[in-house]
Amino acid sequence: MAVHAIVPAAGSGTRMGGGVPKQFRELAGEPVLARTVRVLLSCGKVDTLTLVVPPADLEAVRSEILPQGQDVSAQAAAGGADRQESVWKGILALGNVAPDEIILVHDGVRPFLTPPVIEHVIQAARKTGAATCGVPSKDTIKLVGKSGLVESTLDRSRCYLVQTPQAFRYEILRRAHEEWMKSATEARATDDAMMVERLGLPVAMTEGLYENIKLTTPEDFLLADAFVRGGRLGGTA
Ligand code: CTP
Ligand code: MG
Repeated sequence: MAVHAIVPAAGSGTRMGGGVPKQFRELAGEPVLARTVRVLLSCGKVDTLTLVVPPADLEAVRSEILPQGQDVSAQAAAGGADRQESVWKGILALGNVAPDEIILVHDGVRPFLTPPVIEHVIQAARKTGAATCGVPSKDTIKLVGKSGLVESTLDRSRCYLVQTPQAFRYEILRRAHEEWMKSATEARATDDAMMVERLGLPVAMTEGLYENIKLTTPEDFLLADAFVRGGRLGGTA
């Protein structure tokens, strides 16, 4: 059964700040998005790749980042106003996909994923229908109310910090997006698994990696440089 990767990379990186959007910033001589794509494809499990990018960057991404001459059919599509809409546009760009085929969604700004993480999440999605990777939370997590007062403390032993890749049977991911868009909620989904949870369907948790960080704020690039120097070359070292 084919695996189709969708990589949302159409954000503007407001929390990162600075000039070049983080997905195009260089990390060890290579744009972050190019590294992410390289690792995604290095596992040999991905049949098609859809990069979802800002409309203004479509041509540059096609000529500079889309893999050429590899054993994968790759395309770039224009993103939307938020991550949820960008993933939806990626789903639409896939065209005809059978219900049981696997869609792998991975943030363009997580360049430190590894082939085993990808393989485990795909396997779990084939079995359960939907899967995310994540890591046990090292810190205690509290819910805080609007007043700034703590409402409650979650049981840390059950708290996971959620990462991507996430993987889904096509029919489930598509329905999850459609139902979320139909519902009256204004809330935007910050990952795809939460939309599947909303349908009442199971989502498996597989083992992520603490270094599989999402480059979000400036100090994350310091960490990323340290990972690269320490030989964490995104699974290709
Ligand atoms: N993303 C996207 N389309 C959007 C917004 C986000 O494809 N309209 C992508 C980002 O490019 C990133 C992933 O979703 O790969 C995770 O989003 P996030 O870390 O929030 O990135 P940004 O939205 O760019 O950053 P910020 O929220 O700080 O503006
Ligand atoms: Mg964002």
